[in-house]
Formats: sequence, structure tokens, C-alpha cells
Amino acid sequence: MDTSNNFILEMSVNDLDSIKPILETEFDDFWNFSILKSELENANSNYFVLKSEGEILGFAGILIVLGEAEITNIVVRKNCRGNGLSKLLLQYLVDYCSHNNISKIHLEVNASNLVAINLYKLFGFKKVGLRKNYYKNNDALLLAKDLINI
Ligand SMILES: CC(C)(COP(=O)(O)OP(=O)(O)OC[C@H]1O[C@@H](n2cnc3c(N)ncnc32)[C@H](O)[C@@H]1OP(=O)(O)O)[C@@H](O)C(=O)NCCC(=O)NCCS
Repeated sequence: MDTSNNFILEMSVNDLDSIKPILETEFDDFWNFSILKSELENANSNYFVLKSEGEILGFAGILIVLGEAEITNIVVRKNCRGNGLSKLLLQYLVDYCSHNNISKIHLEVNASNLVAINLYKLFGFKKVGLRKNYYKNNDALLLAKDLINI
């Protein structure tokens, strides 16, 4: 996969509309259109899309509250996974937080989601807690990373 033409920018309502028909089949089934639409309308949320030649290959969001950020999701289009795209998105979020004086990034991830856990570990996120039965069939790991602001 040629990743040289990728770029990341803020998600617009048009972006979201353009992926509406494929959101649940080609991205994932737990972030539906109406949740994402309300996220885009939330002044504390920041969503970004990764595009290549006008096509959205992934997106990611953070919620900023009291100087700390929560990653609400990172998702890569199913047929584009395994090409390092989530690393580009996560690096973008970390840089965005550093530039906006965020002191800490945290998130919840399904304890069975080993791919995502590997991704976050790669970026220095550490386990700081566990929420028993947070998901239907599983626990949530709470991960966090302290930032050194620039
Ligand atoms: C998690 C997700 C975003 C990863 O996206 P991706 O673009 O395929 O991941 P990348 O190719 O950038 O790989 C990033 C790291 O994840 C880990 N990883 C990727 N694929 C993996 C696999 N099949 N098995 C184990 N670890 C894997 C590796 O550590 C990899 O880094 P490395 O290649 O340097 O070793 C993607 O699987 C996805 O969209 N999942 C559904 C949504 C989700 O669960 N999001 C996370 C919860 S917020």
C-alpha cells in the first residue's frame, strides 16, 4: 500500500456524511453515525481524518476536558489495516495534544483488543487501571500517557 500521499486534517460534517454508508461495514460497528455527528458538534471534541487521494482511510478523536485528553476512538478502514495508518493517526493526536498544552492522554480499551493495546504500548501508554465488565463480554483497560509539553 502506498502511504506517501496520506494527510491528516480536521474531520468535517461533509467527511462524516461521505463515509456514512460504509461506516459500520468498512470501519467498525461500535461508532455509529449519530454518535459521531454529536461528537463533531461537541466543542470539546476534536476529530481528524486520514485521507489518501480524497478517500478517508481512517479517523480518530479526542475529548479535551480540564487540560487532559481522552482518546475516544481510532479506527482504520478494514481493508487498509496493517499498514501503519493508526500509528500516523496516533502520532498526530499526541502532537496535537503536546501543542495544546495537554498534560495527559488517557483512554479505555477492551482488554481483548490486543492490536489496539500493542499500538498504545508502542507509544508509551501504560496501564493505570481496570474496569471490570465495562464492555458486554469483557473488561476495559485504562491506559494513560503523560506528555512533556513543547
Ligand atoms: C486498532 C487499529 C486502529 C490498528 O490500525 P492499523 O492501521 O491496522 O495498525 P497499524 O498498522 O498502524 O499497526 C500499529 C501497531 O498495532 C499493532 N498491530 C497491528 N496489527 C496487529 C496484529 N494483527 N496483531 C497484533 N498487533 C498488531 C502493532 O504493534 C503495530 O505496530 P508495528 O507494526 O510497528 O508492530 C485497527 O485495527 C482498527 O481500526 N480496529 C478497530 C477499531 C479499534 O479497535 N480501535 C481501537 C480502540 S479505540
